[in-house]
Amino acid sequence: MLSDRWLQRWLPTVLERAGTGPVLEIGCGRGSDTATLVVAGARVIALDLSPSNVAAAQARAPQATVSCQDVRSPWPTADQPYGVIVASLSLHYFAWHDTVTLVSRIHAALRPGGLLLCRLNSTRDHHHGARGHPAIEPNSYDVRGEPKRFFDRAALTQLFASGWRTLSIQETKSYKYVRPKVLWELALERAA
Ligand SMILES: C[S@@+](CC[C@H](N)C(=O)[O-])C[C@H]1O[C@@H](n2cnc3c(N)ncnc32)[C@H](O)[C@@H]1O
Repeated sequence: MLSDRWLQRWLPTVLERAGTGPVLEIGCGRGSDTATLVVAGARVIALDLSPSNVAAAQARAPQATVSCQDVRSPWPTADQPYGVIVASLSLHYFAWHDTVTLVSRIHAALRPGGLLLCRLNSTRDHHHGARGHPAIEPNSYDVRGEPKRFFDRAALTQLFASGWRTLSIQETKSYKYVRPKVLWELALERAA
């Protein structure tokens, strides 16, 4: 992986909002963000669908609790609602209806004032599937056999219309892959 230090600037906020509770990480992949969170001092509960990614994340961040599950199944619960949920590039595999449901579940799992940090594919992410693939739904494509959704500002507005306060929303580029990836980076808090 090339450079992808997106979480660094959020770490003080993450630690403050998590307090003594764990951070829930949805779709942790091979554990790059998991390790960043753990090294910063957060307690992390992570999940991912891929057994090999789960094994890699667990090896990379042994202090985290990493489970293998579909994000659409019930999530591990903590003894209190989460103060922080991180979902980096992991909410784009689903039909729009299921995406809306996932965001509602994230909202319900957070305490009021809890923080959602998420990154979503931009409709301008042309190097990574945002054009040239068969459409499944508007802005969702079959990218080499895998459904992949791309978000524009209108979709984000719709997705986070109710019950959220936006702290930051930026369309930016990540250089984690060989070709630049255009994505949205969002920080939102659950409104009281
Ligand atoms: C593009 S990777 C992002 C990984 C990591 N969060 C990052 O930013 O590097 C997407 C991850 O979501 C996981 N994933 C895909 N569908 C999933 C599902 N239905 N439930 C849970 N995880 C899923 C994949 O296995 C993969 O590890």
